[in-house]
Amino acid sequence: MKKFTCVADIGDLKAALAEAAEIKKDRFAFTELGRNKTLLMIFFNSSLRTRLSTQKAAMNLGMNVMVLDVNQGAWKLETERGVIMDGDKAEHLLEAIPVMGSYCDIIGVRSFAGLKDKKEDYEERVIEQFIKYSGRPVFSMEAATRHPLQSFADLITIEEFKTKPRPKVVMTWAPHPRALPQAVPNSFAEWMNATDYEFVITHPHGYELDPAFTGNARIEYDQRKALEGADFVYAKNWSAYADPNYGKVLSTDRDWTVDAEKMALTNNAYFMHCLPVRRNMIVTDDVIESDRSIVIPEAANREISAQTVIKRLLESL
Ligand code: CP
Repeated sequence: MKKFTCVADIGDLKAALAEAAEIKKDRFAFTELGRNKTLLMIFFNSSLRTRLSTQKAAMNLGMNVMVLDVNQGAWKLETERGVIMDGDKAEHLLEAIPVMGSYCDIIGVRSFAGLKDKKEDYEERVIEQFIKYSGRPVFSMEAATRHPLQSFADLITIEEFKTKPRPKVVMTWAPHPRALPQAVPNSFAEWMNATDYEFVITHPHGYELDPAFTGNARIEYDQRKALEGADFVYAKNWSAYADPNYGKVLSTDRDWTVDAEKMALTNNAYFMHCLPVRRNMIVTDDVIESDRSIVIPEAANREISAQTVIKRLLESL
């Protein structure tokens, strides 16, 4: 594997899940693989889980790790070609990327959607430039349109908790005060569509995601109807994708908050969220604190998904 930005890059899902399970049994079985190899993690945006779990995963593999927060201490980077650089950006990504590549063996990049220019976001201009110009294997730590390490961890978690071969998984939009990218729901949809689970997406009108990600998933605008019989409830907010409202908050209707009454419609479903989560906007205190909430094991599996991906990238060097 030379890059990891989407579900297609991981190949056969059953093989990837088996490898993840092997790693989870003994996460220090491959410490020689990363000896004298360096991971550079580059953050254009904030993080708690991705930062810690990915660093831990690389250390489990024996790697050295460097972390660069581009917006704290590095030169401000220009990303567009042809710009007259007479503003506050002192360095161009086209020099910075190969320089960063010269100091490491593998690069992880976090770069969110700006939510201003849909074409720019959906072309994945930042991570694609890293893939093109770094000369190193690159993996996404959440890009503009996908968060594959999260989705892989979500899948590992569902596999661990499911009690039937084909569970019903419902991804529900939930309210949030700020405009958030579509990366997590896009990616989750893409990974769920690669399984044989029953997969349903529910959201208010106007929050339709890119059909390239939702594929053949059932779209249900009535949240309560969608939740009936669910085995897993995956809550997430996202801003509008459809024009002319790209990147906008169209609703903060707390009737979409996941609460105990909604969970009672399900098949005693497990509650999932990628975190960080806004309590009593996305989900009520009692639901996220209930014994059906699996947000902590889900977050813990970020270490396993990252280690599986980095192991494969190391094997390709
Ligand atoms: N779920 C997730 O990616 O968390 P962070 O933004 O804290 O890394």
